Amino acid sequence: MKKKHILISGGAGFIGSHLCDRLLDLGAYVICVDNLLTGSEKNIKHLYKNKYFKFLKHDVIDSLDVKGDIDYILHFASPASPRDYYKYPIATLEVGAIGTRNLLELARKKRAVFLLASTSEVYGDPLVNPQKETYWGNVNPIGPRSVYDEAKRFSEAITLAYHRKHKIDTKIVRIFNTYGPRMRARDGRAIPEFIEQALTNKPVTAFGNGKQTRSFAYIDDLIDGLLLLLNSGLNTPVNIGNPNEMTINSLAELIINLVGSNSKIVYKPLPLDDPKLRRPDISLAKKELKWRPKVDIKKGLGKTIEYFRNDKK
Ligand SMILES: NC(=O)c1ccc[n+]([C@@H]2O[C@H](COP(=O)([O-])OP(=O)(O)OC[C@H]3O[C@@H](n4cnc5c(N)ncnc54)[C@H](O)[C@@H]3O)[C@@H](O)[C@H]2O)c1
Repeated sequence: MKKKHILISGGAGFIGSHLCDRLLDLGAYVICVDNLLTGSEKNIKHLYKNKYFKFLKHDVIDSLDVKGDIDYILHFASPASPRDYYKYPIATLEVGAIGTRNLLELARKKRAVFLLASTSEVYGDPLVNPQKETYWGNVNPIGPRSVYDEAKRFSEAITLAYHRKHKIDTKIVRIFNTYGPRMRARDGRAIPEFIEQALTNKPVTAFGNGKQTRSFAYIDDLIDGLLLLLNSGLNTPVNIGNPNEMTINSLAELIINLVGSNSKIVYKPLPLDDPKLRRPDISLAKKELKWRPKVDIKKGLGKTIEYFRNDKK
């Protein structure tokens, strides 16, 4: 069978680089497009010797033409942690809007399947818990987080517009918090931040009173779900995440214990519009994709802690 040609934007980032690995293992030809704004060549360097892998340093805000066939376009380019999108507010809006449009245009020209990495942030600070795909969300459209939330809401809308108008085969994954090796220690997301603080015996900083909840999926589970979605007939959004909800306090305690650290939890003011609850309803993915997360949080955190330990050496 002919090798599938797959373009991954944001392929040098945390999730994108794991996707590159997995798709190469499955026998695909992978073109990774990334401007390295929040990603790093460190995540993909091991692939440079693979003749089926190509890295293109490019900002997807500028239009992109690639020679030859492209069978799938997986759009993962975007700052993703609150610290990153506060730092790059305009670039975040632009990659969600102009970047998504450019890649949809490429999908139209190549008649490629297009997968958009959307986010649970489209639900904002939700008024219902857990969140189903049919929930329209509770988003502050002008707050500091809006640069990310609204960019992703726009990117979902334009993706479905291309599906309806140009008959592109589109997939939209609403990713809930995902963690694992290759996250950046100081990107501000709870798990890498807590691990880094625990490994250095510094205070572990939780926001608010630490009673807000999140649910965390391990990277391998997410990739499994993404690939099943890619091969499905579902064109509208699908939640992929782990429904095991936990408070930020219990996450911090678990990490301190797993690291064997002397760190204590300290509290900082809650950022504006920080969601108080976050848990995916994954019944659609379970029913249609036969997918469910398998990796236990202790095991996933263990592997992530190991990565951060080795990264320090
Ligand atoms: N990690 C999560 O828990 C999570 C949750 C929900 C959604 N997502 C989505 O998944 C995608 C990847 O997230 P991540 O956690 O791997 O973040 P990341 O920051 O590690 O990766 C994003 C990648 O996109 C690249 N990028 C940013 N702007 C670009 C541009 N204009 N042109 C080309 N490349 C650009 C960055 O350099 C980086 O390599 C994002 O779209 C994010 O919104 C992630």
